[in-house]
Amino acid sequence: MLGDREHWTNRLGFILAAAGSAVGLGNIWRFPYVTGVNGGAAFIVIYLITIIIIGYPMMVTEMALGKKTQKNPVGAFKAMAPNSPWWLVGALGVFTGFVILSYYSVVAGWSLAYIFRALAGFAPDMDFVSIFYTTIGVDIGEGPNIISPLIWHLIFMALTVGIIAAGVVKGIQRWVKILMPILLILLLILVVRAVTLPGASAGLAFYLSPDFSEVTGRTFLDAIAQSFFTLSLGMGAILTYGSYLSKETTIGDNGGWVVGLDTGIAIIAGFAIFPAVFALGMEPGAGPGLTFITLPAVFAELPGGTFFGFLFFLLLSIAALTSAISLLEVVTAWLVDEKGWARSRAAILMGVIIFLVGIPPSLGYNVLGGFSFLGMDVLDTYDWFANALFLPIGGLLTAIFVGYVWQAKKAQEFANDPPGSIRIGDWYGFLIKYIVPLAIIVVLIAGLIDTFGG
Ligand code: TRP
Repeated sequence: MLGDREHWTNRLGFILAAAGSAVGLGNIWRFPYVTGVNGGAAFIVIYLITIIIIGYPMMVTEMALGKKTQKNPVGAFKAMAPNSPWWLVGALGVFTGFVILSYYSVVAGWSLAYIFRALAGFAPDMDFVSIFYTTIGVDIGEGPNIISPLIWHLIFMALTVGIIAAGVVKGIQRWVKILMPILLILLLILVVRAVTLPGASAGLAFYLSPDFSEVTGRTFLDAIAQSFFTLSLGMGAILTYGSYLSKETTIGDNGGWVVGLDTGIAIIAGFAIFPAVFALGMEPGAGPGLTFITLPAVFAELPGGTFFGFLFFLLLSIAALTSAISLLEVVTAWLVDEKGWARSRAAILMGVIIFLVGIPPSLGYNVLGGFSFLGMDVLDTYDWFANALFLPIGGLLTAIFVGYVWQAKKAQEFANDPPGSIRIGDWYGFLIKYIVPLAIIVVLIAGLIDTFGG
């Protein structure tokens, strides 16, 4: 039997929790931007193919491992392959969750700070670069702002800990049922505002016009890497959420919902961002610059911009929070299952340690400004280790484990019991044993060549 482990009390709870994990910063700025520079609609087609042949099978794989073992990542590998070193793959996942959350929380803290910046009002004559610099702690003449980014990081970690300490049903499920609908509504309001602006069509053209001349080998690599990152794969977050699934849930369908919601929200986010950026005559930049410098400048010019700016940063913070809780849940579930800790103790203590580990990336813009690893600041260094190394390695080993040790055929049978409307066919074994590992190896090597070879 399933014992006294907590379980999602209904299917929607699980779908929203897993979609909440998946929908994050990766959807709101990374996907639209990567699409824009990779040939628009041409990229979307390639991306959809990678989501179907790589993202979906991996999603099903992690859900099945969790549901089968009813354990955290370390316990899951131990249960499937006792007395073997495979548990180290789970341990890598727990460690990766720890690292990602430490800097994810720093960036989420900037987003929280911007909710209040937006409420105070964005005006056209403001210097948005300086505002961004003071928010993250760079010295712009009056001495570095060390404390406030740390306080926002602390507040964000406290929110994350509060939800996780409350439990799977009373914490995670309860909050995703409140936050995910709000996220969708905010996104739709922002889309309607953006696409009805005069001049919005230039942004739509940048975002969507299929330009096959921009499609190169790099485009395929970007699509694979993005599908992995955006679905929270490779470190056991989906596995851990899957471990709270009860016997009667269908894996193929739930996986379809999560992948569909994540992809839909990513595509919709582009409709909220580019029409507004182009309508106001700005240039879309990449990464944090687009989110924290260009968009505030857009809101400053936009009719009702204070309101829409507030909604946008609220949306971004909610997206980050529902991802952050899945990261802390991995670490917490490990201590609860493997070490017998009380849930609240595990959540609070790990929250404190993760906050402390997140201090160096926060200080990377002032006290630790001299730090450089291959030209990256502290936060980018943490991010590089997590995304270029730990996630692909974790995903690769998980695919190999399920394909060859558990055996793809058995995983397939397990995923089809009980059967849902999406049946996991024999294609699953082909993808998980050959295509997924090959794709990850190519992305891993290309990423390393990119960093060290260039
Ligand atoms: N999926 C998240 C996003 O799109 C980021 C992310 C990557 C993540 N791996 C994760 C979140 C693991 C939670 C768990 O922003």
